[in-house]
Amino acid sequence: MRKKVVPVLGLLALALLFAACAPHASQDSLKPAGPFARDPKNLFEKVFWFGAVPVFVLVEGGILWIVIKYRHRKGRDRMPPQIHGNTRLEIGWTIVPAIVLAVMMVPTVATIWDLARQPPSDALHVTVTGQQWFWRFTYTDADMQTAAQTPGPIQTDNELVIPTGRVVYLTIVSGVGNIVRPTDGVSDAEVIHSFWIPELAGAQDAIPNHENHILMQADQPGIYHGQCKEFCGLSHGIMKAQVRAVTPEEFDTWAAGQKLDAIEPTTGLAASGFDAFMNGQCIACHAIQGTPAQGIAGPDLTHLASRGCIVGCLLPNTPENLTRWIHDPPAVKPGSFMPNYHLSDEEIQQLDAYLETLK
Ligand code: CUA
Repeated sequence: MRKKVVPVLGLLALALLFAACAPHASQDSLKPAGPFARDPKNLFEKVFWFGAVPVFVLVEGGILWIVIKYRHRKGRDRMPPQIHGNTRLEIGWTIVPAIVLAVMMVPTVATIWDLARQPPSDALHVTVTGQQWFWRFTYTDADMQTAAQTPGPIQTDNELVIPTGRVVYLTIVSGVGNIVRPTDGVSDAEVIHSFWIPELAGAQDAIPNHENHILMQADQPGIYHGQCKEFCGLSHGIMKAQVRAVTPEEFDTWAAGQKLDAIEPTTGLAASGFDAFMNGQCIACHAIQGTPAQGIAGPDLTHLASRGCIVGCLLPNTPENLTRWIHDPPAVKPGSFMPNYHLSDEEIQQLDAYLETLK
């Protein structure tokens, strides 16, 4: 009885596992949504159908054939002849795999070169910085500088906004210890992350003091989800990112908005929230352009309300989630560098009201 139960339970567990994977089906490198994700997928298909499948069928078929043909039979009491030391066979099964690998190398190397090519002159340049635990995106092109009052590149966190049909050249790095956790002085230096938006590009490591590059392009507008792919500490598993691809016209409108400084609210809850923000601990880590807040450790909040997600893209950007986060950050993101400041409900309400104005 027990012998039958174990495989059934195993199958059930597998079914549950696949069911749990289903909601993230959009993080699927086999459904590429741009040329730089299509190339690796095409390579995978070539290697799979012309390499892995024939090798599997030949090797497994050979094993089955030998197992059946030379199986033990009644009345057979001697060992069959052994082939150990058969030089011809050993040379054969060394050379044949070498040839198979050499043939597969041709499309592989071609794809590697293709993906490593220099970007076209009209590419959008973005520096991607892995932090513990969120992604920061800095738009470094000359026409992506912010308003004159606080000149600097457009910077956003968690959600990368790109125009469709245009090559984006990503320079990928890791934070170099500019974030220090106030509670214990631990910095986020020297951690390797890996930036991966499966539907738009392959994965690329984010290494401190070293630049890596990848090309990315989205054919159609949409939201493309991603996930840090290199273990980087307590909240690695929830260090997500998303790319919002919009039409070139929408991108220009978005960029124009991002260039503006924040507007200071003068009335109501939002005005109280502004005062609480500027007089509290927030400005030690966060910047809001056009205000005295110029911290660099945490996400730049100048246009927080225009982003699709918060907390390393773990949560959709809604007032409820913002409240939940400010109320107790380490409870939402284990190891969070933003501590629980034990703010009162009233203070959180005011801060929320202010942060919601940061369009
Ligand atoms: Cu960042 Cu894993």
